[in-house]
Amino acid sequence: EFEPRIFSGVQPTGNLHLGNYLGAIKRWVALQTSYPCIYCAVDLHAITMWQEPAQLERSTREVTAALLAAGIDAKTHILFNQSRVHQHAELAWVINCVARMGWLNRMTQFKDKAGKDRENASVGLFTYPDLMAADILLYRATHVPVGEDQKQHLELTRDVAQKFNNDFGSRIAELGLGVPMQVGETKVDGYFPLTEPLIGGPATRVMSLRDGSKKMSKSDPSDLSRINLTDDADQISKKIRKAKTDPDALPSEVAGLAGRPEADNLVGIYAGLAEASKEAVLSEHGGRPFSDFKPALADLAVEKLAPIADEMRRILADPAEIDRTLDAGAARAAEIAGRTMADVKRIVGL
Ligand code: ADP
Ligand code: NA
Repeated sequence: EFEPRIFSGVQPTGNLHLGNYLGAIKRWVALQTSYPCIYCAVDLHAITMWQEPAQLERSTREVTAALLAAGIDAKTHILFNQSRVHQHAELAWVINCVARMGWLNRMTQFKDKAGKDRENASVGLFTYPDLMAADILLYRATHVPVGEDQKQHLELTRDVAQKFNNDFGSRIAELGLGVPMQVGETKVDGYFPLTEPLIGGPATRVMSLRDGSKKMSKSDPSDLSRINLTDDADQISKKIRKAKTDPDALPSEVAGLAGRPEADNLVGIYAGLAEASKEAVLSEHGGRPFSDFKPALADLAVEKLAPIADEMRRILADPAEIDRTLDAGAARAAEIAGRTMADVKRIVGL
C-alpha cells in the first residue's frame, strides 16, 4: 500500500478569498497534524491565462505569505512554487501522452474558463488537468484536499494513474517498482496510487456574495462578490452587509434552505468559520432576520480572518525570507520529484 501523503495547490493569480480558505486552505492546515503534506503555489497553472509578469511574481509571494499566515508549517511540511521543480512540466508531458483527447474534452472547467472563444484559448488551458495530475502523481500523493470544483480533475488524475499502471504494468513489475494496491476486488502492483480527493465540511463550494449561482472566485470582476483574506474589518463588514439575500428570516432546519442559495451560502460560511455544522448554526440562529444574522456573521469573519491578514502583512514585509522559504521547499520537493521522474523514465523507456 502507498504511504498516505497529502498534496494540494493554489494558483497565485490574485488575492486568496474565503472560498479558497474554507474549501481548501483551512483544511490543509488541519491535515498537517496527521500526514506529511506538500503544498504548492501553482504558477505554471496560473500562466494558462495571461498574467502580468511582475504581478505574477508578487502574487506568488503573497499566496505564500497567506499560506504561512493561515498556519502552513513550512519547516515540518513542504511549501514551494511549482515552476521551481522542473519535474512538474516534465511529468506533465508524459501524462499528455497517456491521457486521451476525449477525457480532456469532457472537462467542464475548460469550457467555463475558455468561454465562447474556444479557438483562442491557450493549449495550456486545455491540458491544465494533465499538469494537475502530474503535480499530484509526482509525489505519489494519496489524498488531495480541494473544493468541490476540482472533483472532475481528481477523477482524471485517477484515470491517468490507472492507465499508466495498466499500459506499463509488466515493465513496472520487471523493474520491481510496483506497490501492491487494491483495485476493486483485485490486488495489483501499480506505480501510481489512485488518488482520492478530500472534499468535505459545510463550505466545499462557497458562492459569490452577489450571485448565489456563481462560485466565489478570484477572477470575478466584482470585488463585492468575495471576501479576500487581506480585507480589513470594515471591508469584511461592508461586503457581508451588501451580500445578496432573500427577504425571509433564517429557517430553523437545513431543509428550509432548499431553493434559497444566498441564505444557504451565508449559513455555510458561518458554519465553516465556526467549525460547526449548518444544523448547529440554524439551531442557534434560526428565526433571525438577515439584518440580525449578517452582523453576527461579520463579527465571526473578522474574528477569524483579521489575525491572518495581520500576520500576512508581517510576513510580506520581508520578501527575501519568503524567497528563502520557497527555495528550501523546492529543494525538498525536488528530491522526491527527481526520484519519481527517474522511475517514470525507466518505466517508459526514456
Ligand atoms: P480560484 O478558483 O479562485 O482561481 P484556485 O483554482 O487557485 O482558486 O483554487 C484553489 C483551491 O481553492 C482549490 O482547492 C479549489 O477547489 C478551492 N476553491 C476555489 N474556489 C472555491 C470556492 N468558491 N469554494 C470552495 N473552494 C474553492
Ligand atoms: Na479553482
